[in-house]
Amino acid sequence: MALSRPATPVDLSNDRQQRYQSLPGIGPQHRIVAYSAICAHKLMYPTPQISFINIRKGQADEPAHVVHCCGDDSRSDPTRGGKVISGPAPQPLAMVMLEWNPENDELHAVGTLGGEMFQAFFEKYEFRLTLDHGANAMKPSARTSVVQAASTYSRQQQSCKA
Ligand code: FES
Repeated sequence: MALSRPATPVDLSNDRQQRYQSLPGIGPQHRIVAYSAICAHKLMYPTPQISFINIRKGQADEPAHVVHCCGDDSRSDPTRGGKVISGPAPQPLAMVMLEWNPENDELHAVGTLGGEMFQAFFEKYEFRLTLDHGANAMKPSARTSVVQAASTYSRQQQSCKA
């Protein structure tokens, strides 16, 4: 996501109280960040049919945009490492570590930082993922993956109350 202001590193901790420092935004204006779209609360995630987690306009005391999961109304600050602003999520969203090449303007995802929940996600949704994506659903992807806007990946964006 491209933010309206630069993302700066902040000190955070995951749900096991392991401390880490979030990454700054990258790109020419330090405004590009990426996060896992798996909610840190009950692991809701965008599907091709519907998404309950997305970027929403921030409220008066929040940044311009927040990551909001409609499941139980957890809101995270994308300018501060996915830090939880409100709601029951027990830890920040996991950051996707990006590298930016200014010569060709390419972005590369090279890892994750923070409380990633991939093992728990695959265990919880194994049956569903296998139905949707086949037997290879839990296997590592190829060296490259297609990036798609959340607004086009899910046919329906569930609107939250807030
Ligand atoms: S599943 Fe996202 S807030 Fe509960």
